Amino acid sequence: MPAMSKATNASRPAHRPTKTPGVKKTSAPTSQSIHTNTNQHPELVASSQTPPTCNNPHADRIQPKKEAGGKSTDNSANKGKQTEGGGRKAIEAGKELIKEAIFEKLDSKIICSTNAFRVADLGCSVGPNTFHAVQSVLDAVEQKCQGQGHNSQLPEFQVFFNDHASNDFNELFKSMPSDRRYYAAGVPGSFYSRLFPKAFLHFAYSSYSLQILSKVPGEVVDVNSPAWNKGRIHYSKSANHVVKAYEAQYAKDMDCFLSARAQEIVSGGLMAFVVPGRPNGIPHAEVFVNMAKELFGSCLMDMAKKGFISEEKVDSFNIPQYIASLEDVEAIVKANGCFSTETMEILSGDKPQPKAFASGVRSGMEGMIQKHFGKEIDLDHLFDLFRQKLEESSSILESKKFVSLFVVLKRRSATE
Ligand SMILES: C[S@@+](CC[C@H](N)C(=O)[O-])C[C@H]1O[C@@H](n2cnc3c(N)ncnc32)[C@H](O)[C@@H]1O
Repeated sequence: MPAMSKATNASRPAHRPTKTPGVKKTSAPTSQSIHTNTNQHPELVASSQTPPTCNNPHADRIQPKKEAGGKSTDNSANKGKQTEGGGRKAIEAGKELIKEAIFEKLDSKIICSTNAFRVADLGCSVGPNTFHAVQSVLDAVEQKCQGQGHNSQLPEFQVFFNDHASNDFNELFKSMPSDRRYYAAGVPGSFYSRLFPKAFLHFAYSSYSLQILSKVPGEVVDVNSPAWNKGRIHYSKSANHVVKAYEAQYAKDMDCFLSARAQEIVSGGLMAFVVPGRPNGIPHAEVFVNMAKELFGSCLMDMAKKGFISEEKVDSFNIPQYIASLEDVEAIVKANGCFSTETMEILSGDKPQPKAFASGVRSGMEGMIQKHFGKEIDLDHLFDLFRQKLEESSSILESKKFVSLFVVLKRRSATE
């Protein structure tokens, strides 16, 4: 555990080509972190990288300065350019943290003992961010080998790109860097279940995907349950029963995720993920992305009151996303027991402009909304209303927290 201070279709590469958490305050982009043995913080650098791309209908996207619905979690044709709680600077910060993790936490023996170093990006979408992320991993592994004088022992690399089967893997494959130095494969399926053979992966990565639940908790759409989420589409301002139902779904999903990866990652192998987050102790309603969802829900209710859509449809619409805190993650990792926590950081971000935010949410959610409410819903009207509400609430939104969590876990050995 760290010290408290706090993803087949194979294609050939062009050529072959590094324990109790703590909290620390950091400068940009980190404001609070749990980290094992380094106080180093990433410098945010100007990036040519695209803010997170996501074609999942349940993911709304915004573009922060720094730091990363419906009833099922399959993809739609939406392609956004921003991810809630995410952003290019957070990704840049994440790259530095990935490098740090590989340099400091990955045993060289793991790299040297294999002729193919296998990396997975879980929830990769269609690129290009996934390409930048995996390249960061590969660069760090190569640098680590070279730094240790193992030039002649550089492994070959194989990268597995995972997302739901409905993801546009063709687009992903078509846009793969032509000069990549890895063998590539697509792996369709939910990362909440097994995707790879046992003890297969050396490094697993996921960015802005693990906030998406496997499903909306059943109770919140059950009119006979105390957790029925009438008049709301998310949990952050709902009755405690609703919050608990979402929390429980998140814990269950994450446990499935960890248990599946525990089978697939070699002993001592690493897993890093970044998600939109909530600082420890901060109420759900104080989180920017949650408040934005509440505002979005109020737009749907306004439309229902004016008779544009049915109120029952709003009552049965909930967004399957949970914005976790480091405490949430830590408790789940501990209860699961298969991984040690190596790094936990909070990356803070700039709040996005209402117009950009509304358009990001639209690109992420319109497919899901249309699926639920039918063709009759006027999406222009809905998202215009949303933009207006965001503008009217900008001073309140300004006071809300906008952060991402960055976590590195290490697969424990059977003897630990
Ligand atoms: C917001 S996008 C992030 C994409 C990319 N990782 C990035 O950072 O730009 C979330 C992605 O996670 C995928 N996803 C969500 N739930 C998933 C699951 N259970 N299994 C596999 N992929 C999932 C979505 O289909 C979507 O492509």
